[in-house]
Amino acid sequence: DPDDVVPVGQRRAWCWCMCFGLAFMLAGVILGGAYLYKYFALQPDDVYYCGIKYIKDDVILSEASADAPAARYQTIEENIKIFKEDEVEFISVPVPEFADSDPANIVHDFNKKLTAYLDLNLDKCYVIPLNTSIVMPPRNLLELLINIKAGTYLPQSYLIHEHMVITDRIENIDHLGFFIYRLCHDKETYKLQRRETIKGIQKREASDCITIRHFENKFAVETSICS
Ligand SMILES: *[C@@H]1O[C@H](CO)[C@@H](O)[C@H](O)[C@H]1NC(C)=O
Repeated sequence: DPDDVVPVGQRRAWCWCMCFGLAFMLAGVILGGAYLYKYFALQPDDVYYCGIKYIKDDVILSEASADAPAARYQTIEENIKIFKEDEVEFISVPVPEFADSDPANIVHDFNKKLTAYLDLNLDKCYVIPLNTSIVMPPRNLLELLINIKAGTYLPQSYLIHEHMVITDRIENIDHLGFFIYRLCHDKETYKLQRRETIKGIQKREASDCITIRHFENKFAVETSICS
C-alpha cells in the first residue's frame, strides 16, 4: 500500500495545508457571497408604481378652462423603491407620455444628503445636494404611498420648476455612497448647481437643457439641467 510509505510527519503537514486551504476558500466564498448579495440583491422595503396628475402651466397662465377637464392635466408615472434602513429613495421614470422630458433613474440619499439623476437618454449622471423641502423623507413618502393604493394616482396637484446648471465633472464617485455609486459608477458624472430663475434666459438656452419630470412629494417637479 503506497500510503504506508509516506512518513507520518509529512502526512500531518499535508493535512494542515488542506485545512488552511479549505478555510481560506470558505472565507473567500462567504465574503464574496456577502459582497455579491449587497451588490445585486439589495432589496427595497417597498416598491410602488404610481402616478401624479398636475395642471399644465400654460393653462394656469391663460386660464383656458374652457377645455375639457382632462386636457388641463398632464401625468407622470414612476416606480418608487424605498430603502427605509438606508434612508434612500430610488425612483425610476420611464419614457414619458410626451417626448419633451427624459426617462431617468433618481437616487435621493438622506444619509449622504445627496441626489443623483441618471439621464437615460444621455447616459450621464448629475449630482446635487438633497433639497429636503422638495423631497419627502423615506418614511413619510412610504406613508403617503401606503395611503394611496399602489397603482393609483396621487390627488391632483401642481408642478414646480427647478433650474440646474452643470458645473464640474466628478472623476471619483466612491465617496458618494453605495446607492449613487451603483447608479453612476460607469457613467460620466457631473456636479450641479441650483440657479435662481431668470426670466427670458430659459428660452434661449433651451437647446442646451434636458428636462426630467418626477415626484417624491405631493407635487410634481420639473428639473431642467443646463450646460
Ligand atoms: C429647495 O427647493 C425650493 C423650492 O424650489 C427652493 O425655494 C429652495 O431654495 C431650495 N433649497 C435649496 C437648499 O436648494
